[in-house]
Amino acid sequence: MRVDLPQPGPDELAHSERLAALIRAEIVAAGGAIDFARYMELALYAPGLGYYSAGAAKFGAAGDFITAPELGFVFARCLARAIAPVLRETHGDILELGPGSGALAAELLLELERLDALPARYFLLERSADLRERQRTTLTRRCPHLLERCGWLDSPPTQTWRGALIANEVIDALPVRAFGFRGDDVFERVVGVDGDGAFVWREGPADARLRTAIATIIPEASSFPQPYSSEICTLLAPWFTEVTRTLEAGAAWFVDYGYSRAEYYSPHRSNGTLRCHWRHRAHDDPLILPGLQDITTHVDFDALIEAGESTGFRLAAFEPQAQFLIHNGLDEVFAQAHAHEPDEAARYALAQQVKRLILPGQMGEAFRVVALRR
Ligand SMILES: C[S@@+](CC[C@H](N)C(=O)[O-])C[C@H]1O[C@@H](n2cnc3c(N)ncnc32)[C@H](O)[C@@H]1O
Repeated sequence: MRVDLPQPGPDELAHSERLAALIRAEIVAAGGAIDFARYMELALYAPGLGYYSAGAAKFGAAGDFITAPELGFVFARCLARAIAPVLRETHGDILELGPGSGALAAELLLELERLDALPARYFLLERSADLRERQRTTLTRRCPHLLERCGWLDSPPTQTWRGALIANEVIDALPVRAFGFRGDDVFERVVGVDGDGAFVWREGPADARLRTAIATIIPEASSFPQPYSSEICTLLAPWFTEVTRTLEAGAAWFVDYGYSRAEYYSPHRSNGTLRCHWRHRAHDDPLILPGLQDITTHVDFDALIEAGESTGFRLAAFEPQAQFLIHNGLDEVFAQAHAHEPDEAARYALAQQVKRLILPGQMGEAFRVVALRR
């Protein structure tokens, strides 16, 4: 995929070079290569330097990509309608994973207040100090009277709790291992350094854990075209278990772009789904601009559902985002907002927001919602 990328400024390049030096040192210490999951972990989350840990704008028009909550209030108001019955039933809390700018938290709280279904507490699980600060600023500006219900966590709750867990576009940011097939054999795609210090893909032996995981998702590797490369999120099941371990009763909503396993690991998708975002350009080279660009992959929804079902959850819904929003009051949310908006331009923007969320060529079909009950 060739895309013309905007040139980073001198400060951005210097920042990226500091992170690159750290990654290079780890590669040297590891004997010449690290697995891609480790590279992705460092590129996104190295303290003070990784894409999500440092101060880049990331979300919205001034950043690199836009998520549903960043488009406006419609997504959050519909999600509030899905969550409200669970909060009323459990008298519980909300735990939001990876809350980004805090836009979803603020709008959800305001809508749940209108629906008379406020959570006792709203926990934001956020590792990045920079993003925590941004979330606090958003909540202080948008719903100061609800701030005292909010609390920040840097790891999943250790005490049992009830209520609703939500994660919008979080699983796509979990580090993945990369692999390819050669002949009948599988190899791991690892990250090394060339003579100029640039990061390059290398082939390494696949360990037993990776082989077993790949054999589960692609039992018929010999019938796949070559070259074939893809990626697998071996972290997903342990991560899921950890973040939901203390949720005693309630439900979890995961919203993300992805495929069923058969669609994901289809012979036709021979390049995997690794994507990078830098200034609203998407491309597929994660080895450039470390720390400046987002790195994501699609979600294997079968893996997510299996992780839920093997830890005591029941699948309550699995549907495209468009259907989810329609099933959870999109008409009403739109009609109310439209009726209360005197400004013609704002009414037009509202219609555009809804189109972005539900049209098949936009977020309506590529994004899906998995709802799990326990
Ligand atoms: C694409 S952003 C989405 C942000 C926000 N949810 C939104 O929709 O705008 C991905 C988020 O996932 C968070 N994240 C990644 N790994 C995580 C983990 N292991 N636990 C919690 N959050 C994580 C990142 O810090 C980042 O805030």
